[in-house]
Amino acid sequence: MSELRSDYKLEVLIPREELKKHTERMAAEISRDYKGKEVLFVGILKGAFIFMSDLVRSVDLPGCRLGFMMVSSYGSGTVSSGNITIKKDLEMDVEGKHVIIVEDIVDTGFTLSYLKKYIANRNAASVKICTMLDKPDRRQVQLEPDYYGAKIPDVFAVGYGLDYDEAFRELPDVCVVK
Ligand code: IMP
Ligand code: MG
Repeated sequence: MSELRSDYKLEVLIPREELKKHTERMAAEISRDYKGKEVLFVGILKGAFIFMSDLVRSVDLPGCRLGFMMVSSYGSGTVSSGNITIKKDLEMDVEGKHVIIVEDIVDTGFTLSYLKKYIANRNAASVKICTMLDKPDRRQVQLEPDYYGAKIPDVFAVGYGLDYDEAFRELPDVCVVK
């Protein structure tokens, strides 16, 4: 434990073996559903970077492309503001592409419903959502991920890319901070 973490107690919620199984299942579904299509994966930084790297290495879609966006929806702390700002936009053309937005977690749904519209408005052929975690109890807007790893209760999760105040992203398991 580093000094930073010494004040927190972490409990494993989803171990790495389970995350791997979820990733492989989703990758197989996506590979089947998008066979022969021009696919662009759009990872939402920073949270999705670890999941995205595991997912795309399990997917079998020759010629697929990868892009990233960075958005912020939280002021400070752990409550979504619903105010989405784009901090890094996609530099690629999405017109005619089948876009799969890759996220770490869907919570209120504000971020993804905004991004889905934003990308669809740029004339993508289709836009779907793939997330490792889903917290359906917290939803404030109607939004169903097309592919998800695990549904979790209303807890604050960290690890596997997810942060609490920028810490804990590097943890290989999804944990809960107590
Ligand atoms: P939404 O707009 O409320 O759906 O929030 C989505 C974003 O909030 C995610 O991309 C995460 O960055 C962050 N977030 C939501 N829930 C958690 C959590 O339990 N742990 C860490 N980050 C979270
Ligand atoms: Mg975050």
